Amino acid sequence: MLKRKDLLGLIDASAEEIKEILDLAGEFKTRIKNGEKKIPHLSGKTATILFYENSTRTRTSFEEAAKYLGATTINIVAGNSSVAKGETLVDTGKTLDAQVNDFIIMRHPMGGAPYLLAKTVKASVLNAGDGMNEHPTQALLDMLTMREYFGSLKGLKVAILGDIKHSRVAKSNLFGLQKMGAEVYMYAPETLIPKGIDKLGAKLCKSRQEALEGADVVMGLRIQLERQQAGAFPSLGEYAANYGVDEKVLDYAKPNAIILHPGPVNRGVELTSGVIDHERSRIEDQVLSGVAVRMAALCLLNEARGGKTV
Ligand code: CP
Repeated sequence: MLKRKDLLGLIDASAEEIKEILDLAGEFKTRIKNGEKKIPHLSGKTATILFYENSTRTRTSFEEAAKYLGATTINIVAGNSSVAKGETLVDTGKTLDAQVNDFIIMRHPMGGAPYLLAKTVKASVLNAGDGMNEHPTQALLDMLTMREYFGSLKGLKVAILGDIKHSRVAKSNLFGLQKMGAEVYMYAPETLIPKGIDKLGAKLCKSRQEALEGADVVMGLRIQLERQQAGAFPSLGEYAANYGVDEKVLDYAKPNAIILHPGPVNRGVELTSGVIDHERSRIEDQVLSGVAVRMAALCLLNEARGGKTV
């Protein structure tokens, strides 16, 4: 059973905890697919969604997850809240605590912000992406999508290509996948590889061919122009030609390799349209996995707080 107040990252999650979340998420995914949208484990609970950065998938899927579980949801967009008047994160947290929130789901541009919030509130904090640090539920949904296709994560070769330096998705996947017995290979321009990532277990490749050869999973990552200095690579066209994935280089991967991308995708940059819409693309399946994983995380944290057992 998950024994933690918050879900902030996968760096300190055990393989058992990851498995527990994926197992429950798998059950929820089947139930949602069968049209079941009322699974009221969180009836009477409140989940506040506090986003200081843009989002489509993560925000809506957390909201959907909480609603399917019967919780009341409150959405706070930082630009429309007292944050815009100068209120600190800790004071915002105290206000939400005083309103007896059970969960605070937060995205923030600063790495570590959810850790600070979690220390100061009674509510369970779920990190929905903090700067360049972690995005744990994204990696969990990626792992669920892979596990459903291959049956197990053990022994998989996962090739991650793209803006690894600015990617919280890459880091959470690196932590989570290794714990589950998979190997993570990475390829990007040197300017987009964070120093020391190999010390965390990433296998850095010198070419697309080396990264993709024999891969079971090909994961593209968005070029995060909003986080990077100018000059990380000459142009988007040259990036696509040398570091992107098209149908030709996809042939290096195993014949049954699947294609993932956390989204939003820059079509024609990280992946060509032919790869995004390929029969082995599981990008849309990742979105449904996202709802199920977030339901599982909310339920298991609720259980850890002494709430209803699942
Ligand atoms: N994958 C992901 O975090 O997407 P959003 O930014 O749309 O939430």
